[in-house]
Amino acid sequence: MKFAFFGDIHGNIDALKAVYAKATGEGVSKIYHLGDLGGYAPFVNEVVEFLIEHGIEGVQGNYDETVANDREHCGCKYQDPVQEEMANLSFEWTKRHVSHKTKEYLRNLPASISFQTAGKKVLLFHATPHKNNIYWYQDRPEKFFSEMAAKTDADILIYGHTHKPYRKDIGGKVFVNAGSVGKPKEGDPKACLTIVDITQNNVSVQFDRVLYDVEEAARAIKESGLHPYFAEKLRKGG
Ligand SMILES: [Fe+2]
Repeated sequence: MKFAFFGDIHGNIDALKAVYAKATGEGVSKIYHLGDLGGYAPFVNEVVEFLIEHGIEGVQGNYDETVANDREHCGCKYQDPVQEEMANLSFEWTKRHVSHKTKEYLRNLPASISFQTAGKKVLLFHATPHKNNIYWYQDRPEKFFSEMAAKTDADILIYGHTHKPYRKDIGGKVFVNAGSVGKPKEGDPKACLTIVDITQNNVSVQFDRVLYDVEEAARAIKESGLHPYFAEKLRKGG
């Protein structure tokens, strides 16, 4: 069975539409999102509408939780003061612009989703099985992967939050970071779509980078009143 995963859409409706079109062309049986639906780009309400309209289920990200509950910030670690200031501006803008319906949707997202296919248990969450604001990068020690796996009985763990996709196999478990649709951080502005094909004997993971009109999305960011910093970040892919 083939599944598609959308991580960290972050208000980028054009990128979402592009990955959705690509996913439906791949013959997937189900599509899930991995949270963080708003922030950095202006279309959080449109993203939520699109997910509802197309029946795409998903989990709650740290951004969703913060916006839905009017919290000051997500408790994330920032690399420098500029990044922190920009993150605060983005939170303020997003909290001012979310509709009541969007807030309700974000508030009611589950922390995790699990399902079974081909005799394997799959668990979806935003960042780690127990906390939605920890950065789980590929170069974390194997011990960290094993500790996270021990918190669940899943065979395949799928998540996002870092905006950097990877697949790792440790101790018989498969770990998949699905990357980011709307705000990639790997120097390539194309949207990341993750396709996972699960059979009795195999788990194959494919990361597709999907082209869309990045200039148009950058223009929309500038016109929205969000800081132009986010438009530049999008153009550069992080
Ligand atoms: Fe994110």
